[in-house]
Amino acid sequence: MSIAILTSGGDCAGMNPGIKHFVDHCFNHNIQPYIIFDGLEGLIDGDIKAATHNDVAGIMHEGGTMLRSSRSKRFFEYEYRKIAFENLQKHGVDKLVILGGDGSFRALNQFYKDFGVPFVGIPSTIDNDIFGTDYCLGVDTALNIIRGATDAIRDTSASFRRGCVIETMGRDCGYLALVSAITCGAEVCVIPELETDLDSLAKKLKNQITLGRKYIVTVVAEGTKKTQELVEWLEHEVGIETRATILGHIQRGGNPTVYDRLMAVEFVTYAVDKLINENSNEGLVIVYAEGKFEFVTIDYVNSNKYAIKQNLLDMAEDMTK
Ligand code: F6P
Repeated sequence: MSIAILTSGGDCAGMNPGIKHFVDHCFNHNIQPYIIFDGLEGLIDGDIKAATHNDVAGIMHEGGTMLRSSRSKRFFEYEYRKIAFENLQKHGVDKLVILGGDGSFRALNQFYKDFGVPFVGIPSTIDNDIFGTDYCLGVDTALNIIRGATDAIRDTSASFRRGCVIETMGRDCGYLALVSAITCGAEVCVIPELETDLDSLAKKLKNQITLGRKYIVTVVAEGTKKTQELVEWLEHEVGIETRATILGHIQRGGNPTVYDRLMAVEFVTYAVDKLINENSNEGLVIVYAEGKFEFVTIDYVNSNKYAIKQNLLDMAEDMTK
């Protein structure tokens, strides 16, 4: 049996520790690991290699993915998936581990339906928006990067008696912005999952300014598309000079935190063990839910939209009205 690993879609911190552990863990089980470069694009182009320990030495602490990633349009077409399958056959690879988001899992599920190549998907996206799992690889590192940036922006905002609007990534999901607002002590949190009462917030904040407040931290999720509107609201309705910072791709890079390294190792261990010990012959996703790792089907992951837990949403109440 041979297993290959690839990374697909938006990269995140934790992918490199996952790749390293995959190679080490396969060798420990006397299985030849394979690595596929450039995600599904590399699968089509045959960029596949029998891995050595040397390939993955010294990457535990590095952000991004040494295998690189892609969002492949070609993989939607059967003729390219067929080429990808033939490439796997050439190397004798019969199972796959993929680090990516639900789009990547759906693509591999179609591949499984076409050619019967079993795989395990490991939820990896800073957006934390995959149904069925409480945690996706990369989220803790992204949150720590946002925390560092927000702490720094608060310093300069306080020096100038300014407001700041900090936009986080997350696509349509407000998880990163919500957790960051709570843990960074923001005054305002604007995410797609919560209604915001700007009139009542403006009243409250204006009053706080008269009592001595020197800065206002607003965290906004990119999915709301309200960053500029919030700057204008702070300047005109609240009455505080304001600057916006769009954090952007710094949230996707950086050295993985201890938590992301540990999660990467755990996700990969269980995924590889499932493929070799239980001789799994289907397309599965390993999820971390209610403190436990378990395997679910792609259909289950696709059956619903990820929803942030209500108790976490409740914590932001004061930052929305
Ligand atoms: O899905 C991860 C993510 O970083 C989103 O948060 C963001 O909206 C998107 O990818 C950015 O994509 P790109 O790197 O293609 O600009």
